[in-house]
Amino acid sequence: MAAKFIKVDPFDLVVFGGTGDLAYRKLYPALLHRDKSDQFTDPTRIVGVSRRPLAREAFQASVRDALTRFNGSEAVSPDVVERFLNRLDYVAVDASGDAGWADLKALLGPEDRTRAYYMATGPDLFGPIATRLGAAGLATPRSRIIVEKPIGKDGKSADAINDAIGSVFLEKNIFRIDHYLGKETVQNLMALRFANALFEPLWNSAHIDHVQITVAETLGVGGRGAYYDNSGAIRDMVQNHMLQLLCLVAMEPPSSLQADALRDEKLKVLKSLSPIDDSNVSALTVRGQYRAGFAEGAAVPGYLQDIEQETSDTETFVALKLAVANWRWAGVPFYLRTGKRLPQRVSEIVIGFRRVPHAIFETGADGIPANRLVIRVQPDEGIKLWLMIKEPGPGGMRLQHVPLDMSFAKTFATPTPEAYERLLMDALRGNAALFMRRDEVEAAWKFIDPIREAWAHLGESPRPYAAGNWGPAAAIALIERDGRTWNEEYE
Ligand code: BG6
Repeated sequence: MAAKFIKVDPFDLVVFGGTGDLAYRKLYPALLHRDKSDQFTDPTRIVGVSRRPLAREAFQASVRDALTRFNGSEAVSPDVVERFLNRLDYVAVDASGDAGWADLKALLGPEDRTRAYYMATGPDLFGPIATRLGAAGLATPRSRIIVEKPIGKDGKSADAINDAIGSVFLEKNIFRIDHYLGKETVQNLMALRFANALFEPLWNSAHIDHVQITVAETLGVGGRGAYYDNSGAIRDMVQNHMLQLLCLVAMEPPSSLQADALRDEKLKVLKSLSPIDDSNVSALTVRGQYRAGFAEGAAVPGYLQDIEQETSDTETFVALKLAVANWRWAGVPFYLRTGKRLPQRVSEIVIGFRRVPHAIFETGADGIPANRLVIRVQPDEGIKLWLMIKEPGPGGMRLQHVPLDMSFAKTFATPTPEAYERLLMDALRGNAALFMRRDEVEAAWKFIDPIREAWAHLGESPRPYAAGNWGPAAAIALIERDGRTWNEEYE
């Protein structure tokens, strides 16, 4: 099937937090790439909004600079950059005061094209901005709002944010971003499961022994300490990205790719998660915090030094053993782990199949290794299916575990687009399939809140691990106790 770029109708995209890190690093480069592919239709504008006064030209210059720094490897011609910069405008608005709203309204004029507001700010501003957009008459039944994670820090604060946004925007116009859903390999998980007849008959507890989801980062918390220390790995990564990955692995086949058909199935998975609370939190979870060590080829400081605090009970690593309590998955553990300052940047989903029921071949003490399907989300996106094969040549039936290896980079000529490119275009087209519905966010918090409460009741600090290790030893014990191991055949 040839690549095709479906044009997007003219739009005004208003970026609150328009001079912030997310906007410069991710949003403008993503928009530039879509513009380069001629996906925009004139007249289309991108309006940066933040508190400080800035002339349009100065804003354009700052975006030009960001595009040079964060554009990635893809070459973009100067003409395309100029055309893109000409679409930019800027208004200074006080998100929680009165200043600037009339200017924004005057600049936007009548709503004669798609209008979307992107909240690239802290979550505490989502509600106030939505309310003021409503009061200024800038939120109509047609206008859309795009909100970043984290939506709140627990179920209660998420409710307050969702209420505030929901009282101004219609649910169908609220696009809650989880950028993992925009990653190509994550979408490929749906293709793999639902465009191939091969896997679905095996996709259940009769044939699958366990599932692993790893999202490992080599980075520390760097300059994000203030945010991160109030969040921790479970709120920053598990409540959203990892649970969404789990949903895509575990959900029933949706009846269509229509947004609610998909989201209904994901919601059922979230609601089927067996609760983790005071009674089982010690057995099913491990928290860690990195200490000084060696990462990314250099000696690195520990978490407390990174956040410039003397103490902190915030976890930078978490491993969990989850159960999806339904017919398909009864008895199949889902092991999740994520952390900062781990030895390698790798995100992957591993489907561990059951072993053959009866061995006719001579094997070592461990028997015949089970098949594994490894979906590499990033980097080196691809899919590997580990099979047992007879080694060629004489010497009897010598078996080897070898992968059928499909690398996206080798198979497809086109480079993998950034998640934000797809998500921004989908929001502007009004396709909500890859965005979270309110009830999904609520269900995710309902599962996460009792875990955090149980940790607080337990009163234990996260276990230390030296930067450059796979988290605390207890995380390895979590899976090895069950006679299984984390997948670690990285290249
Ligand atoms: C963000 C988290 O949502 O995802 C960060 O807040 C994390 O802490 C990032 O580093 C990881 O995203 P990616 O796309 O680099 O895997």
